[in-house]
Amino acid sequence: MPDRYAVFGHPIHHSKSPFIHRAFAAQTGQDLEYTAIDASPEHFAATVRTFFTEGGKGANVTVPHKEAALALAADATPRAQEAGAANTLFLTADGAICADNTDGVGLIRDLTNRWGLALEGKRILLLGAGGAAKGILAPLIAARPCAIMLANRTAARAEALVAAFAPRAAQLGVSLTTLPWAQLAHPAATPPFDLVLNATSASLTGSAPPLSPTLWAPDATAYDLMYGATPTPFLVAAQHQGAARTIDGLGMLVEQAAESFWLWRGVRPETEPVYQALRAQLGALAAR
Ligand code: ATR
Repeated sequence: MPDRYAVFGHPIHHSKSPFIHRAFAAQTGQDLEYTAIDASPEHFAATVRTFFTEGGKGANVTVPHKEAALALAADATPRAQEAGAANTLFLTADGAICADNTDGVGLIRDLTNRWGLALEGKRILLLGAGGAAKGILAPLIAARPCAIMLANRTAARAEALVAAFAPRAAQLGVSLTTLPWAQLAHPAATPPFDLVLNATSASLTGSAPPLSPTLWAPDATAYDLMYGATPTPFLVAAQHQGAARTIDGLGMLVEQAAESFWLWRGVRPETEPVYQALRAQLGALAAR
């Protein structure tokens, strides 16, 4: 019997995780089965517990269950606790469910390994203050940029995040402040940014945060945590405004999966062929 893994979400039919993990398993010769399980919020915890009771070895968790996944776990890694959310569940040696979060490390690996970006000493603008932004803030601080500014449509949420992560940022000498949302379109005395990350879900409604051409340093990268068959509205706007490079979140998706796979199986898959296969699938969709 192959070891059983699954991704839990709601909805889940568009999930690329089964494709990614099956490709990793084929590549590394691991005997496992990986399925997608739709669980509504009210049934999520019970469905996950049943999955593990019936022999499941590990799980990924996606929208809207990442906070609930952390809550149901008996234990959690420091990075899941910091993120306040989990995207990966595994069993400890004594059979307890433990929560982890590989999103942040996935983002950093994509930025640094796939795209060759150095973050140390750079100026970063992070758009959004929801779960996605919270999940990547600690790893971004750990990369020791010179400054991270956080802008969110609802100012109070950005201020709360900055307050929560201020001690960590201060420890590492990273300036962590907010930038008023209205100033994105009219930045006052803000020096330009080397990297602008979109962690809002604005793309879901086809909109982009308000941006100005003066936000971008000459070599600036625009990175959207979301991805699709065509560039997100944020990436389209960034390119028009002179961002030197635009990158979507497909690489982050593959890298976070690889980190989960490593956690479960103790084997690091090669991510590039799987990334290229997914990129080709998206390209084929766009060409339709
Ligand atoms: P996620 O887990 O994807 O981060 P979330 O916690 O609901 O989801 O957070 C969504 C983020 O996208 C928030 O920062 C939200 O801004 P608010 O805090 O003001 O709600 C942001 N967001 C969603 N739609 C947006 C839009 N149309 N324009 C700007 N920001 C938007």
